[in-house]
Amino acid sequence: MSSSAPAPASPTRGLVVAIDGPSGSGKSSTSRGVANRLGLRYLDTGAMFRAMTWWLLRAGIDVHDADAVSARVSEPGIESGTDPLAPTIVVDGVDVGVAIRGDDVTGAVSRVSSVPQVRARLLQLQRNLIADATTTGGIVVEGRDIGSVVAPDAPVKVYLTADAAARAVRRAAEEGGSDVAATEASLLARDTIDSGRATAPLVMADGAVHIDTTPYTLDEVIDLVVALVEAVEAPA
Ligand code: DC
Repeated sequence: MSSSAPAPASPTRGLVVAIDGPSGSGKSSTSRGVANRLGLRYLDTGAMFRAMTWWLLRAGIDVHDADAVSARVSEPGIESGTDPLAPTIVVDGVDVGVAIRGDDVTGAVSRVSSVPQVRARLLQLQRNLIADATTTGGIVVEGRDIGSVVAPDAPVKVYLTADAAARAVRRAAEEGGSDVAATEASLLARDTIDSGRATAPLVMADGAVHIDTTPYTLDEVIDLVVALVEAVEAPA
């Protein structure tokens, strides 16, 4: 099987596939591949937290000041495009798809994500997008708290991990050849904040299937997740 197989003509209705895991575990590539294979929409919730962070930094807000952050969370207009082949993220009409991957946003996003008012605002947007997508087909949603908080009733929940060294190599390559040691230090620092925060920390959700992606190719991981979906979809 290949991840580039054409989408089925009549996609599954109302399906939510929740994919959580730490940075660099393969969530984005896997989620997009699964969505493309099954003809589903795709939502990158990390991009929404990055978009909020981009806007706060541009507004000159001190992201370490939770009160200052929470006072402004309702202001930016954040729009996520959910085509798995061309996902988009737009803030107040500006395409920030490249800007949100910059070092300034990457260095600040875990702090911003730990502010409960940020999470509450984005949770509402995420649930609206999921509700829209499930009226016509379904959606693969990736993040840190999808199976535990955003979509706890999702029929398929996956928790992806990989060795820190493997994650750093992948993420550095995605970033166009960044220093692997520095990338590993940066993602481990974010993991610590993401897993330790009080609101919606990174956890393996109840009912999630754990896949350690370290020994697998991307296509093999996509195959594993598609098989989980097909098992849920199969008539009893
Ligand atoms: O997946 P990513 O690296 O683009 O995510 C960026 C940050 O956003 C990450 O440090 C944690 C946060 N995040 C979150 O708290 N909850 C989510 N559902 C998705 C991302």
